[in-house]
Amino acid sequence: METRANFVDGAWVEGPDAVSDINPSDITDVVGIFSHADAKLVDRAVTAAKKAAPSWGASTPQARFDVLDFIGTEILARRQELGRLLAREEGKVLPEAVGEVVRGGYIFKFFAGEALRVPGEHLKSVRPGVEIDVLRQPIGVVGLITPWNFPFAVPAWKIAPALAYGNTVVFKPAELVPGCAWAIAEIIARSGIPAAVFNLVMGRGRVIGETLVNHPDVAGISFTGSVAVGRTLAASCARRMAKVQLEMGGKNPLVILDDADLGTAVQAAINGAFFSTGQRCTASSRLIVTGGIHDRFVRAMVETMAALKIDDALADGTDIGPVADEGQLSKDLAYIDIGKQEGAHLAAGGTQLEKAKRGYYLSPALFTNSTPAMRINREEIFGPVAGVIRVADYDEALAVANDTPFGLSAGICTSSLKVASHFKEHAQAGMVMVNLPTAGVDYHVPFGGRKGSSYGSREQGRYAIEFYTTVKTCYVAP
Ligand code: UN1
Repeated sequence: METRANFVDGAWVEGPDAVSDINPSDITDVVGIFSHADAKLVDRAVTAAKKAAPSWGASTPQARFDVLDFIGTEILARRQELGRLLAREEGKVLPEAVGEVVRGGYIFKFFAGEALRVPGEHLKSVRPGVEIDVLRQPIGVVGLITPWNFPFAVPAWKIAPALAYGNTVVFKPAELVPGCAWAIAEIIARSGIPAAVFNLVMGRGRVIGETLVNHPDVAGISFTGSVAVGRTLAASCARRMAKVQLEMGGKNPLVILDDADLGTAVQAAINGAFFSTGQRCTASSRLIVTGGIHDRFVRAMVETMAALKIDDALADGTDIGPVADEGQLSKDLAYIDIGKQEGAHLAAGGTQLEKAKRGYYLSPALFTNSTPAMRINREEIFGPVAGVIRVADYDEALAVANDTPFGLSAGICTSSLKVASHFKEHAQAGMVMVNLPTAGVDYHVPFGGRKGSSYGSREQGRYAIEFYTTVKTCYVAP
């Protein structure tokens, strides 16, 4: 198998070592062999990106549109093949994987359009005869650090706005998913983009991420990943006064009220808590349920869960694929033990499964009799594990929903417009979902949260401009 290289200064460059990319549905299946960069190669990429920044920053909206539109068109055309790669590498089921690739393609199309309409403002000065222009300009070299759970969509929603607004990029994907990152880079390399505007460096966070974050020529870091890493990364960026944008964890509540439609609530909970094997920062990991519907809801959940097919992500009819790797599987199992020790009742699932192929299979776990103070309801697990918390009424549900160090997404199932409106206003979260799962977002609107979930300006949609540009105010006297 040929080793796939890093992309630096317009050329494919091998680093000092290489690692195998393993399929979590079948650990005997090697997806590919990918080169790891080292600190020296990261430095080369940043230096090249810095040199390329002035001319890309001055490129026409048409040039940027053409590059982004090419990338989006090719991703959409190859959705089945790239979706298979994603499912094989990361373990989410094929329909979800194809959906994510499509989302990635549309993100590039959206920002192709945005490149044509970079806004500015023209105002009259308070002084006679003086005119003011407020301009948006690129910030320079950006370092983009992405997680393994959305190996197509998250890179797309960082790379596309970075390029649309005239920045140059050094992209460091999660170690677990180099295949999707490399496929994106290979398309970008053929898009007509000038050399060194986009660079890919693969490898470990400790080496690649740290070098990027501390490099004096990197003007901004956009990171999606854990709170622990985000915290140290923000401190490093603050020390050298670089711009930083962080998307981190979630412990997202889904409130289910007595007046909810049971089918809608169960669908939202199953999808939100367990699809993508629960490996979403937007997952519904706390199911906050009022007394009048609680028992019916739990019964329907257990029945629906029993019918879920957990298997190879590429097999027809699989509902839930494997956990992404061994480390995450051990973490999930450890939290399931913690939940039992804390006195929650494991109502369904939570066991490792043997399948025809050897992979990291785990049946989704539903805890009942759980309380807001339990660790399983406070800490992000990032697996298919959800806790049901019984509450008396909407007021208690809202208080419990907001009682968390996180604030990414918050959902409610109810047929009352009045209560839904109140929840929209008072949920302490960056995103609110009514009669929908907490996960699964659109590509053309802002994404992000509050409290421990996010730091810095929003990603996606037109709001992405905040991070990827800096404002210049120009005063002109005749
Ligand atoms: C979604 O729920 O559709 O890591 C997207 C994550 C998020 C993306 C969630 N950055 O789970």
